[in-house]
Amino acid sequence: MHNITLIKGDGIGPEISESVLKIIEAAGVNINWDIQTAGADVIETEGVPLPNRVLESVKKNKVALKSPVTTPIGKGFRSVNVQLRKELDLYANLRPCYNLPNVKTRYENVDIVVVRENTEDLYAGIEKQIDENTAESIKRITRSASERIARFAFDYAVKNNRKFITVVTKANICKLSDGLFLESARNVAAEYNVPLKEILVDNCCMQLVQNPNQFDVLLLPNLYGDIVSDLCAGLIGGLGIAQGANIGKEYAVFEPVHGSAPDIAGQDKANPTAMLMSAIEMLNFIGENVAGKKIRTALFKTFSNNIKTADLGGNSKCSEFTNSIIKNMD
Ligand code: NAI
Repeated sequence: MHNITLIKGDGIGPEISESVLKIIEAAGVNINWDIQTAGADVIETEGVPLPNRVLESVKKNKVALKSPVTTPIGKGFRSVNVQLRKELDLYANLRPCYNLPNVKTRYENVDIVVVRENTEDLYAGIEKQIDENTAESIKRITRSASERIARFAFDYAVKNNRKFITVVTKANICKLSDGLFLESARNVAAEYNVPLKEILVDNCCMQLVQNPNQFDVLLLPNLYGDIVSDLCAGLIGGLGIAQGANIGKEYAVFEPVHGSAPDIAGQDKANPTAMLMSAIEMLNFIGENVAGKKIRTALFKTFSNNIKTADLGGNSKCSEFTNSIIKNMD
């Protein structure tokens, strides 16, 4: 029996959570879910979007599966996601992107793993209002965080037989901050047998849309990682299938890349694949590899049978897609 926190989120969060829980149960994995709510709805009742009970639950269980949470733009509370990553020191964001059967995309055989630093850079949201007409954001990069994420990327590459790593920066302009990230990657690379390539982020974006097959593992500071990983999600068929994980030394939170999709919430239209693939990674992480493989095989079979949700050009509802995966596990 595994104790795992489930953060249900809002928008399409509850729908895709329900789908994934049903599939995991059908695969026969024994999980005691500690279901926690967070996000905009919780502010009304508890005053904050990420109450302490959620953090305590993840700290107790060490592993969480999280569905998306709405972050109001402009003002208000700090993003639940940023706060979770910071409080639990989930320093590595891992987003494998590869093609799925029958999901038509511009390119075939895309297989890129995005490793994004998750705790600092502009994404940390250290901002100051200088005066009414001026605002400032601090881009803070440290050697320790940069070397830590570089080491994570190299260890991942070794463990998963990846061929090389490309470090992505704008070190020609942000000479000190991105320069430090690049220097850290070079220093760590010297300890491994995996080659390190270097590219500037603007060129990287252009190369990705022209020829994504030239890349293997990408290593990026937080903000570029955020943007480039969405670009990579677009290469394989969109946000509905893009999985993610936030991993630290002590805790791990698995979550889809996409947001709460308020435009389709409550309509049984959401694609649960990104959440499901994040859950498969979670199952592998806790040693339930057999169940993970069983679910992945059933998911691929569903796609091979051309059963897809509307975001991928299909006409299946979230619930129908879910039932098809469960049926394919028989
Ligand atoms: P979004 O990812 O929620 O939606 C962008 C577009 O993709 C929408 O058209 C949506 O319908 C579609 N989409 C996303 N996931 C889908 C799925 N599983 N199935 C089918 N279609 C899907 O991004 P948006 O609209 O920018 O953000 C909405 C809210 O989500 C915001 O409050 C944002 O802050 C929050 N957000 C939360 C994240 C998280 O909790 N990890 C990550 C990204 C955004």
